[in-house]
Amino acid sequence: MHNVTLIKGDGIGPSIMDAAVAVIDASGAKINWQEAEAGMSAYEKTGTPLPDATMQSIDETRVAFKGPLTTMVGEGFRSINVELRKKYDLYANVRPAKSWPGVKTRYDDVDIVVVRENTQGLYVGLEHYLTPQKDIAESLAVVTRDSSERIVEYAFKYALDNDRQKVTVCHKANILKFTQGLFLNTAREVAKKYPQIEFDEKIIDAACMHMVMKPEQFDVVVTTNMFGDILSDLTAGLVGGLGLIPGANIGTDAALFEAVHGSAPDIAGKNIANPTAVMMAGVMMLTHLGEHDAGMRMLHAIEKVVNEGKYVTPDLNPNSTCGTKEMGQAIVDAMA
Ligand code: NAI
Ligand code: MG
Repeated sequence: MHNVTLIKGDGIGPSIMDAAVAVIDASGAKINWQEAEAGMSAYEKTGTPLPDATMQSIDETRVAFKGPLTTMVGEGFRSINVELRKKYDLYANVRPAKSWPGVKTRYDDVDIVVVRENTQGLYVGLEHYLTPQKDIAESLAVVTRDSSERIVEYAFKYALDNDRQKVTVCHKANILKFTQGLFLNTAREVAKKYPQIEFDEKIIDAACMHMVMKPEQFDVVVTTNMFGDILSDLTAGLVGGLGLIPGANIGTDAALFEAVHGSAPDIAGKNIANPTAVMMAGVMMLTHLGEHDAGMRMLHAIEKVVNEGKYVTPDLNPNSTCGTKEMGQAIVDAMA
C-alpha cells in the first residue's frame, strides 16, 4: 500500500482528478489516498492557499498527485506550484511529449522529453519595484553551479535509463552571460562524462524555430526554469495539445505528479476537459512507486482509448460528444 497525497485543485482539477483516480484504482495499484487542499479552493475554504495540513500530509507521504491550481493574480499572492517545488526541492520537472498515432497533428514522429530546472532561474520570486511610483520593476534570476549540475546530470541519467540517444541544452548564454553562461558551461562539463550520449546546444529562440520545423532532431532537452515552462507548452502543441502532457516534479526525497496544463477556467464545469494529461502523470507516479505492471496496464488502456478516438473529449475530436467522465469510464473499461 502506498500513501499518496491527493490534491484535486481548481477549475477543471476536480473532474479530471476524479477520472484519473478511478483509473489508477482500477489499474491494480494499491494506493491509500490522503486528500488535501491547495490553491484557490483552499484559500476560499481556509483563508490560505497552502494549509499546514497539506504540507504535513506531503511531509509524511513524500508523494503527491496534484490537479492544477489557479494562481491568484496580484502582489502578495505567491504561486503555490512554485512554492511546493521549492519547499520539497523538486528540482527536476520531467515533461514527455510523444506523438499519438490516433491524434492528428502536423507530425507523427515527435518524442521529446523536456527536463526543466524547477527551483531557480527567473522563478525564484526575487521581484520588486525600484521606485515608489512603481514605474520601474526588477526581477532577478538565480543560477548556481550545483543546481545546474544536478539537473543536467538528471537529464543524462534519464537518457541512459530510457534508451535515449541525445541531450540538447537550450540556453541564452550569448546574452545572459552570467546566469545562462554558468548553466551552459556546467552542461558542457557534465556532458563530457557521458560520451555515449550525443550532446547538442541550441540558443533558445532558434531552438523554438527548429522544434516547430524539425521536431525529430530533439530527444531529451534540458533547460532553465522559464525556458522549460515555455518549451513544454510548445512540445504539447506539437503532439495534440495541453490535454495530453504530464509532468513529474522530482526531488531527492519527494515527488509530485501533475499535468503541464493549468486549471483551464475557460472550460471548467463543462465536463469537457481532457483527463489524459493527469492520467499520464498517474502512470509516471506508478512507475516512481515501483508499480510497473499497474502503470503499464493503465498506459495501454489510455493509449487504446485515445488512439481509437471514439471516447475522447472534444479537444481531440471536435465531433465528439464524449465528456471527461465518459472518457475516464472508457479507460477503466479498457482495463477490464
Ligand atoms: P491552461 O493550461 O489552464 O489553459 C490553456 C488552454 O488550454 C485553455 O484554452 C484551456 O482550455 C486548454 N486546456 C488546458 N488543459 C486542458 C485539458 N485538460 N483539456 C482540454 N483543454 C485544456 O493555462 P491558463 O489559462 O494560462 O492558466 C489558467 C490558470 O492555471 C492560471 O491561474 C495559471 O496560473 C494556472 N496554471 C497552473 C498550473 C499548475 O497548477 N501546474 C500550470 C499552468 C497554469
Ligand atoms: Mg506552464
